[in-house]
Amino acid sequence: MRRSSIMATTTTRPLLVLVATVLASSLLPPPSDAAAAAANPAAAFDSWIAKNQENYIVNMALYAKKAAGDGGKTLDASLSAAEEKKTTYVIDPSGKGDYATITAAIADIPNNNDRRVILDLKPGATFREKLLVNLTQPYVTFKSDPTNPATIAWNDTAATPGKDGKPVGTVGSNTVAIEADYFMAYGVVFRNDAPLAKPGAKGGQAVAVRVFGTKAAFYNCTIDGGQDTLYDHKGLHYFKSCIIRGSVDFIFGFGRSFYEDCRIESVVKEVAVLTAQQRTKSIEGAIDSGFSFKNCSIGGVKGGQIYLGRAWGDSSRVVYSYTVMGEEVVPIGWDGWNVAKPESSGIYYGEFKCSGPGADAKKKKRVGWALDLTEEQAKPFVGAHYIFGDSWIQPPSVTEGGAKGTEAKAPTAAAASANASSTTAASSATASSTTTASANASSTTAASTKASSTATAKAGTASTTTTKGAKA
Ligand SMILES: *[C@@H]1O[C@H](CO)[C@@H](O)[C@H](O)[C@H]1NC(C)=O
Ligand SMILES: *[C@@H]1O[C@H](CO)[C@@H](O)[C@H](O)[C@H]1NC(C)=O
Ligand SMILES: *[C@@H]1O[C@H](CO)[C@@H](O)[C@H](O)[C@H]1NC(C)=O
Ligand SMILES: *[C@@H]1O[C@H](CO)[C@@H](O)[C@H](O)[C@H]1NC(C)=O
Ligand SMILES: *[C@@H]1O[C@H](CO)[C@@H](O)[C@H](O)[C@H]1NC(C)=O
Ligand SMILES: *[C@@H]1O[C@H](CO)[C@@H](O)[C@H](O)[C@H]1NC(C)=O
Repeated sequence: MRRSSIMATTTTRPLLVLVATVLASSLLPPPSDAAAAAANPAAAFDSWIAKNQENYIVNMALYAKKAAGDGGKTLDASLSAAEEKKTTYVIDPSGKGDYATITAAIADIPNNNDRRVILDLKPGATFREKLLVNLTQPYVTFKSDPTNPATIAWNDTAATPGKDGKPVGTVGSNTVAIEADYFMAYGVVFRNDAPLAKPGAKGGQAVAVRVFGTKAAFYNCTIDGGQDTLYDHKGLHYFKSCIIRGSVDFIFGFGRSFYEDCRIESVVKEVAVLTAQQRTKSIEGAIDSGFSFKNCSIGGVKGGQIYLGRAWGDSSRVVYSYTVMGEEVVPIGWDGWNVAKPESSGIYYGEFKCSGPGADAKKKKRVGWALDLTEEQAKPFVGAHYIFGDSWIQPPSVTEGGAKGTEAKAPTAAAASANASSTTAASSATASSTTTASANASSTTAASTKASSTATAKAGTASTTTTKGAKA
């Protein structure tokens, strides 16, 4: 059904085969709640939109009240406390810093860490490391220099054998996994440099970054890979002035995320799918999720084709606003994946004031169920209020300074070499545009549950039998 509409609008035969192969590579079963949604889809959808707008108005009012009553300071108390006692370690592979590897530095961050720990990555250095920031290690910052960034690279894929000899799967293929809350990154390249998988090949998923913790922010970073580059797994996330590159489903997961001023690129000449946003009632936390892109630009290899998104689950939600879309963006725009009747499901795919040859939802004959949003409809998504940003988004300048840590575990390398000037790199970008709106933290459950990601991934698998996990 969906396949035929793709075929109807694509031109060359080899491409058809390719599309079919790519799309078949990670098939999902019909979502379990499809029946419920089908009962009265139109009414359910309308009421969802109304509720969305109602929440927004309530949240705006709350924020105004909060700002008036507390000098405009609305940061989470634990976060404020952590920033008060920040500490910086220099990570330099040449041995002149506090640590030679990021792995060693992370190993020394205590469980239940309560201070901002800035890992100052030597500009220009390459760290070949596979990293986990454990959920017991909140408030960690990876900081380098946007004009000469450090690179963290690894090359696992879903098919790489793990310690137990079994394939690690998509969830384990990451270069960097962030399970902790309040993570920040500034001026760092995150890369998975596994050889690019052939479209439709099994086990080709190669995640560069997986973010499972909530309230994570990335500034001036590059997230680079092929299939499944950025696992925007779960929680509230902010990506500002980043470059994100990949091929199939390269931004995917059930995070509730706001992408602002980002460059988003397909690295293949074949079909690329920019997002696979997962949203379904059957996975805890997933229903609060959705991706919002504002003032981004989308492009890729000349002659390539880019879908804006395909629905992972029957309630997938993605909005693009003020975004410049290159000619590679396919006219129909979106794909329903395994959802038999996207038009009567809970899928919410919208565009608002986008431009460029790949935009113009009306003229371009987008799929019939794609939305050309009104300002009222777009508002809840367009701004950091969408991710309750005022309680946790800070300008990247918080990566500056900070006393050198002596209280945390003793650094393995001599502390002597830390060069104070190297910890105060310029960070002119400001987050002022992000502090204009509201938060009602209780309205997002993304922040509240802390199961292990593996458990969640498994739960996802259990409830849908073959999920993205099946891609693995
Ligand atoms: C995270 O840290 C805790 C406490 O040290 C440990 O028990 C757990 O195994 C760690 N998780 C992973 C995935 O390494
Ligand atoms: C992954 O990287 C390592 C180290 O650079 C290299 O030895 C290995 O061949 C790479 N594996 C693949 C599959 O490219
Ligand atoms: C970070 O990105 C923003 C937006 O692209 C840019 O204005 C700023 O100069 C960048 N910061 C640095 C230090 O390069
Ligand atoms: C849009 O993004 C560009 C950088 O990509 C930035 O220079 C510009 O200020 C942004 N515009 C708005 C209105 O935010
Ligand atoms: C400290 O870093 C600055 C800027 O990177 C550099 O110019 C200076 O030479 C360094 N000083 C020492 C003592 O390493
Ligand atoms: C936040 O939103 C939830 C759900 O909409 C609502 O029940 C709750 O009362 C709100 N919290 C506050 C403090 O208004």
